[in-house]
Amino acid sequence: MTYDVAKVLAERHGENYGLHSEFMNPQMARVLRTLGFDRFYVRGEGCYLYDDAGQRYLDLLSGFGVYGLGRSHPGVKAALHQALDLDLPNMVQIDCALLPGLLAEALVARSHEGIRRVFFCNSGTEAIEGAIKFARYATKRPRVIHASHAFHGLSTGALALNGGAEFRRGFGPLVPNAEVPFGDLDALARQLRRGDVAAFVVEPIQGKGVYLAPTEYWQGVQELCRRHKTLLVADEVQTGLGRTGRFFCHEHFGLEPDIVTVSKALSGGYVPVGAVLTTEKVFMSVFSSMDRAMVHSSTFGRNQLAMVAGLATLAAMDEEGIVERARTTGELFATKLAPLVERHEVLSEVRGLGLMIGLEFKAPATPKLRRRWQAVERIRPALFSQAVVVPLFHRHRILTQVAADGVNIIKLLPPLVAGEAEVDAFVEALDDVLDSAGRGSGLLFELGRTMAKGTLPGRRARQRDGAPSSANGSGHPGRAPTPAPTAAGRP
Ligand SMILES: Cc1ncc(COP(=O)(O)O)c(C=O)c1O
Repeated sequence: MTYDVAKVLAERHGENYGLHSEFMNPQMARVLRTLGFDRFYVRGEGCYLYDDAGQRYLDLLSGFGVYGLGRSHPGVKAALHQALDLDLPNMVQIDCALLPGLLAEALVARSHEGIRRVFFCNSGTEAIEGAIKFARYATKRPRVIHASHAFHGLSTGALALNGGAEFRRGFGPLVPNAEVPFGDLDALARQLRRGDVAAFVVEPIQGKGVYLAPTEYWQGVQELCRRHKTLLVADEVQTGLGRTGRFFCHEHFGLEPDIVTVSKALSGGYVPVGAVLTTEKVFMSVFSSMDRAMVHSSTFGRNQLAMVAGLATLAAMDEEGIVERARTTGELFATKLAPLVERHEVLSEVRGLGLMIGLEFKAPATPKLRRRWQAVERIRPALFSQAVVVPLFHRHRILTQVAADGVNIIKLLPPLVAGEAEVDAFVEALDDVLDSAGRGSGLLFELGRTMAKGTLPGRRARQRDGAPSSANGSGHPGRAPTPAPTAAGRP
């Protein structure tokens, strides 16, 4: 008997939020319903999602950067179908299969000269766990340093390197570590001088907030790490695989990290996969003898479907010139967004590289506009960016996210196949939303109304998902909920 996915999806249609509320994380369901993001998506293709009402949404999140190639990429899909039909001897374990070897070879070929070996795992956080272990073992040193605002995943090793107290609180004690301000070479030097630092783990562009550092900083980092025999770990889980207009983001700065972590876009969006890329020296110090052949491993790590997805993704990237497309479309975004910085006082900066883009808002100086900004920010600091994300979604059907908790920054991670049509759609939509931020009760009214709707009695399956009956959102511009939920957090 087969499990008929299409039939189940049709029969149980509309129960998703209820099921999540009853059996999974009810708070996630509440936040999304309150903000009116509770759509029933039925299909994804390229840069777009489609809901059960036939509405199309421009997805500028791409699954937190997973869909570099866009959703449902036909090449990756066909390769996976083929792999399934071949009944591949998956995960024999006591075996060295061909496909992991091919993917390792392909990743090494795209890395700087020093990177010679690959360890496969299943996610970004697991790649970071591997990097921490490898660095500590190779250097025989205990401490790992990370930067302020850093995000490297949420398993306990990676959590020690998290720059957000909100994620760490209550989960300690964690791996011995220290935080240095991102971009501050002196602070890093002070830590490394102690001689007990195994690795500096850092994102070439920080996901939480889209923060960049100048090339001089990176050159200083490389030099300091070499001088103090601390390993430099470039976390390319989000920035890698063409996202910033180079295959690896660290290439922009001329870096040669000892360890590079990748995940997200390598899967083509189909099968979880992660990888730790290392130098010969680091890898062979860990796997130094036959006794240690399995000293670090993971059951699903080299599974054939993940390897096929990775190989097909790299092939499609080459065929479609994806890295170059990310670079040119990124430039188009920058060019077309620049006039909005001029036109809207509240938009202070557009920054990023390639298709990793941050839009930062600030309190306007003009008194009338400032009063409107303050009305929003009084409800919850950094609510303004959420008040932009909500109408982008409701009015323009564009999916974006607030870049982090407590900052007025919106982040765009469009699929790397996005082009001028998607750039234009976003720029026009943002222009419209920021126009209404400057008019009357504008955005705040819209946010309050959305939240009131999201918590009104009678919403689909509201009783089942446990949404609060006392509405969080009043619908009144000045009396929106306290605290208003945001869908921020993940970088
Ligand atoms: C830079 C970076 N490292 C690590 C991770 C963790 O990856 P995962 O969510 O696959 O565990 C993320 C996730 O967003 C990330 O952005």
